[in-house]
Amino acid sequence: MTCPADGRAFFLLDLMALFHLVDFQTPYEYLGHQHPQKALHMCGIIGYIGQKNCVPIILEGLRRLEYRGYDSAGIALVSKDSLSVEKKAGKVSELAKHLGNGSSTLSGSLGMGHTRWATHGAPNDVNAHPDWDAQKKIAIIHNGIIENYLSIKTKLLREGHVFHTDTDTEVLAHLIQSMYERGNDLSTAVRLALSEVDGTYGLVVMSVHEPDKFIVARKGSPLLIGVGDGENYVASDASAIVSHTRHVVYLEDGEVAVVTKDNIETTTIDALKVHKTVEEVTLELSQIERGGYDHFMLKEINEQPETIRNAMRGRLLVDEGNVKLGGLQNMMGRLLSARRIVITACGTSWHAGLVGEYMLEQIAKIPTEVEYASEFRYRNPLMNIDDVVLLISQSGETADTLAALREAKGKGSTVLGIVNVVGSTIARESDGGVYIHAGPEIGVASTKAFTSQLTVLALITLMLARARGMSQEDGIVLAKEIASLPDKVQHILKNTDQIKAIAEKYKNAKNFLYLGRGANFPVALEGALKLKEISYIHAEGYPAAEMKHGPIALIDENMPVVVIVPRDGIYDKVISNIQEVKARKGRIIAIANEDDTEIANMAEHVIRIPRTYGFFGPILNIIPLQLLSYYMAVARGTNVDQPRNLAKSVTVE
Ligand code: F6R
Repeated sequence: MTCPADGRAFFLLDLMALFHLVDFQTPYEYLGHQHPQKALHMCGIIGYIGQKNCVPIILEGLRRLEYRGYDSAGIALVSKDSLSVEKKAGKVSELAKHLGNGSSTLSGSLGMGHTRWATHGAPNDVNAHPDWDAQKKIAIIHNGIIENYLSIKTKLLREGHVFHTDTDTEVLAHLIQSMYERGNDLSTAVRLALSEVDGTYGLVVMSVHEPDKFIVARKGSPLLIGVGDGENYVASDASAIVSHTRHVVYLEDGEVAVVTKDNIETTTIDALKVHKTVEEVTLELSQIERGGYDHFMLKEINEQPETIRNAMRGRLLVDEGNVKLGGLQNMMGRLLSARRIVITACGTSWHAGLVGEYMLEQIAKIPTEVEYASEFRYRNPLMNIDDVVLLISQSGETADTLAALREAKGKGSTVLGIVNVVGSTIARESDGGVYIHAGPEIGVASTKAFTSQLTVLALITLMLARARGMSQEDGIVLAKEIASLPDKVQHILKNTDQIKAIAEKYKNAKNFLYLGRGANFPVALEGALKLKEISYIHAEGYPAAEMKHGPIALIDENMPVVVIVPRDGIYDKVISNIQEVKARKGRIIAIANEDDTEIANMAEHVIRIPRTYGFFGPILNIIPLQLLSYYMAVARGTNVDQPRNLAKSVTVE
């Protein structure tokens, strides 16, 4: 099907969600596609075809994709019947420098760029994308993994092909060349090559043979086409092109599109025409820029009063002591008859799930289990059709979480999502769910998504508790408490000077221990994860009482121990654990309530937190721990927003 630049049919993708009228939109409409359970890259793709010089457009797009995590970058242009490719290991700035920082003679109006996160072959200049065929006439950029690349490579080697990289992607370029040389046009050559491929891809191909088009294809790795006026874009995510156009066509798995400057024609891999709709992205440019903060992470930490408010806006009905979640309305029957809820997720989202377990069991009285998605997907879990599986994911693209979703679904369970990225694969494949509406999270270390996930878990809990018999009176008390959280977070965020001073004092520590109990045990895990990720200091989170079963051996006068000790039902127990640390000269940094008058006698530092209902405490208690890790990283001079070895969206297994 063709999507001409005029006469577009717009589908306001996020408009309803923006006004919180619905949560996940018609998730069923996406079912029926074949989604491979394969590993993907987290690389980035940008391409331009039109009248302008594409070099600055591509470099800008690559910069906007940097948040995804990558280790090399490259650009390719087709102009004057020749293919130019430049690529560099390291950051996009290295590539820009290599191109002469704006004074480049490289120019053309058909080009593409890529940020690569190495899987096959070391992260160096040679293995960076774009790759090309034996004649250097066809260029390709590729997110994903060609799993049968070795057998294809062996066959091509026998035919005389010579390869200059270690990548699976180069093999695909040669395979396309071999199909092209059999008399096929470029799009047919790409489709035929892809039909031999086992694996995943979001890819873009261009060639001097047909210098007026891109061929793009998707299977298991996101790809969209930005629709302009006499120009078109391709990208792996909308943030790369949103400064140029908000009108996009999302490719689905198994689709191939031929993109010229005025036209988009989409087919299946078997050449059957596909009707596509142009949708509108509501992402604001200011949302993906730093807005005056030194780092995205600091911006995102400071956005939390607003993002938590957004998560509850239009959903929390304080006067009724209840919650309305459009994306779960049709699922209430299943949720209420569920024998148990199984939460599965990775990393920070898994920590949110652990807090959710406390909320759902203690408040809504529903048996709940939490499991790492990477374990769930392979252990052949015993599931029932009356189990509800709740997937939590900021990106909605995490490979293990997606595989867990498909595993649970395959076993007949209802699958629901708590997701940030609108229209992401997990959102689309879930039976229903709730968007957290935190806006784009660019810093690799997750902050605002965590507190929004917890807020949504609190909302789901209150909704289920009321449906299972909690009185309106009690519901109102909890709803008021949830509504008060954004102001309390705002209050905590004013305390940066104290936290900065603590970070300065401990910036050279080799290890950190984080302790908490009950719903604050996951906060200890999350605090430790934040510190590890961005400051590279070894940190462990432990349930405070477990310390004496091993980690206590580590404690001496050099060990900073962060203890989350709110005045709740187990306060005295945590105080006993603090005494155990103190007796061994550990350096205690306590996260404690403002009205706690005893704690100052026991802790070297006390970071004060307003009181709240115990199970909502993690939403407040994590804030100083995010700030502590941020200021530690700044003090140590690490790359806060793009820590080494980490990627924002872990779409690789
Ligand atoms: C930690 C972090 C990761 C993610 C994890 C899951 O700061 O960002 O641990 O939480 O990779 O990602 P999502 O939530 O996108 O599924």
